[in-house]
Amino acid sequence: MRIDVLTLFPQMFPGLFSTGIFQRAVEQKLVEVNLYNFRDCTPDKHHTVDDYAYGGGAGMVLKPEPIFAAVESIKVKEGKEDKEGIDRIPIILLTPQGRLFSQPIAQELSREKRLILICGRYEGVDERVREHLVTDEISIGDYVLSGGELAAMVVIEAVVRLIPGVLGSEASLLDDSHVTGLLEYPQYTRPPEFRGWSVPEVLLSGNHAQIAGWRREQAVQRTLQRRPELLDKADLAVAERRLVDRLKAGLDK
Ligand code: 6GU
Repeated sequence: MRIDVLTLFPQMFPGLFSTGIFQRAVEQKLVEVNLYNFRDCTPDKHHTVDDYAYGGGAGMVLKPEPIFAAVESIKVKEGKEDKEGIDRIPIILLTPQGRLFSQPIAQELSREKRLILICGRYEGVDERVREHLVTDEISIGDYVLSGGELAAMVVIEAVVRLIPGVLGSEASLLDDSHVTGLLEYPQYTRPPEFRGWSVPEVLLSGNHAQIAGWRREQAVQRTLQRRPELLDKADLAVAERRLVDRLKAGLDK
């Protein structure tokens, strides 16, 4: 996968790229990330990227020209290699007005060969960027960040770990919170007793069916307690639905 990021603050990113699984993925050529400062795509000597809002109001608005120019120069560079693919590349604006990012969206994006991410500034982006350049808008939650950079890093991190081969053991992906539609079950490692607090007996039993059953039940319980709204969409067996109903009845008492 090739990810091109347009940002006014490229210096925010290298920490992500030089860490752990990400660095390995880059070394194995499973992913390539390029940072472009669209300030470099301004024709004037002051490299102006924003301007006052028409109609007045506080805050500056990002001008359309540098953003269009940056995306177009990225596309032209690639044009010789893959003419048809180019118009299908998702061009994603990171903005608090976008659709709420989630594991299914990360899965969807992980199947793309290329992504172009545009980091907006909180105050605003000229609407013509949305209407005529961008194909998707993503927000990472209902809170305010000054810019889309951290959001872009969140999206990149969530997507890249889903690319086949990036994680050591693919199996560990399947139990992750939100992949099953449930929160993850409690995890323990050695020692079996720490400051008088013991690891649940069942996990030391070696009975794999029993352990799987316990974990599933814990995941359901934890989800019910912390994020009950997730259970409406979770893929539960009939017996698990009954467990939810019993637990709910217990909670109501
Ligand atoms: Cl994508 N951008 C900004 N500026 N703030 C956010 C966000 C994005 N997602 C949540 N808050």
